Amino acid sequence: MKATKLALETARSRCIQSNQDGMHPKLETIVNKHLNTHYQRPIANHTQQAFDAIRKQVEQHTAPLIFDSCCGTGLSTRHIAQNHPEALVIGIDRSAKRLSKTYSEALPDNARLVQAECADFWRLAQQAQWKLSQHFLLYPNPYPKSSQLKRRWHAHPSYPSLLALGGTIELRTNWLIYAQEFCHTFQIAVPKQPKISPELFTPKDYWTLFEKKYHQSGQNLYFCRLYQ
Ligand SMILES: C[S@@+](CC[C@H](N)C(=O)[O-])C[C@H]1O[C@@H](n2cnc3c(N)ncnc32)[C@H](O)[C@@H]1O
Repeated sequence: MKATKLALETARSRCIQSNQDGMHPKLETIVNKHLNTHYQRPIANHTQQAFDAIRKQVEQHTAPLIFDSCCGTGLSTRHIAQNHPEALVIGIDRSAKRLSKTYSEALPDNARLVQAECADFWRLAQQAQWKLSQHFLLYPNPYPKSSQLKRRWHAHPSYPSLLALGGTIELRTNWLIYAQEFCHTFQIAVPKQPKISPELFTPKDYWTLFEKKYHQSGQNLYFCRLYQ
C-alpha cells in the first residue's frame, strides 16, 4: 500500500475541500499565544541526530544558508541549489520514502537532504543561531479541516522559530485560505508594514512534483513572499 502512495500522489489531484470559507476565526488568538509562549515539546531524537550530523558543515560554511522545508523528494532543493550556487541549500522532510527518490542527475554539491521534523529542526537551528537568507515552504500539507488549524505552519507552536531563522520566506500553496492566513499571521507577528496578500501565479517550470500535479489538474497556485 505504502509503496504505491507516492505514485498515486503524482498522478491525480483534487481541489482542497474545507469547512472553512475564509481565514480561521481563532487565528489571531492562537498566533498571539504562540508568539508569547515558549514551545517546550522535547526534540525528537532522530531530528537531534540529523541536526548534529549536519551542524559542523553548516557552521563551517560562510556562504548564505537556504532552507527548503517540507521538500518532499527534494526536487525543489535541486532547483534552488542550481539557482543559488553560492549558497548551501538544505532540504528537510520527515519522509524517508520521499527523500529516497532518485533522479538521473546527482544532487548538486551545494545541496543536502535531511530527514527531520521541521518544527524541531527549526528550533535547533534557532538555538544554534543560524540565520537564513531564504526559506522555502513549497506546498506544505494544508490541513484543511478547521479543527486542524494548529497543524498549519503559521498556527503551529514552532512559528516563532520559523521567523527567528530570518530570511525571505516563500510559501507556495494551492489553497488560497492557507496563503491568506500565512500572510495575515506575518502581519500579526511583524506589524507596521504594508499589507501583504497572496499572489496567483503560473509556474514557468515545475519546481516540485506537487506543483506539477496541481497545475496540470487546473488548480490555482498562490505564493506569498515575506521579507523580514
Ligand atoms: C504536500 S507534500 C509537498 C512536498 C514538496 N514540497 C512538493 O511540493 O512536492 C508535503 C511534505 O511535507 C512533509 N512534511 C509534513 N509535515 C512535516 C514535518 N512536520 N516535518 C517535515 N516534513 C513534513 C511531508 O513528508 C511531505 O513530503
